Amino acid sequence: MIALASDHAGFPLKNAIAQYLTAREIPFSDLGTHTGERCDYPEYGLMAATAVASGRCEKGILVCGTGVGIGIAANKVKGIRCVTCTEPYSAVLSRKHNDANMLSLGARVVGEGLALMIVEQWLAADFEGGRHGQRVGLITQIEQTGEIVSGGR
Ligand code: RB5
Repeated sequence: MIALASDHAGFPLKNAIAQYLTAREIPFSDLGTHTGERCDYPEYGLMAATAVASGRCEKGILVCGTGVGIGIAANKVKGIRCVTCTEPYSAVLSRKHNDANMLSLGARVVGEGLALMIVEQWLAADFEGGRHGQRVGLITQIEQTGEIVSGGR
């Protein structure tokens, strides 16, 4: 299950992503916003990030004007590794190397076609584990303790 959320600026692109997921029978939960009325992106970033961090959703996709604000908000939730992407290379590597569990997109930055390509490739890429798993473990240590306690160089 994919958690999907946006603010007003991301609303049209979120709808395009919802259509894309529907057409491919990829299950998702649309957490809003549900209108183009101005709203605050941190609320939607938090809602989707909580759905992912709790395990209710496996991954999340967020949209705001830049993808930046909603991504920063999501990254404040423990267990979230949200990446803001404007091209597919970083999106794919964020899955393979960083085990990114959320993707944020900027509706005022990328066009719909590029955004959907990023979504497609991000969803298709798998975490490679190994040395990358050890490094993601170091990130988790920072998140939990504020420092790297063990396993660093
Ligand atoms: C809303 O105007 C805009 O600030 C928001 O969508 C986002 O770009 C913030 O990072």
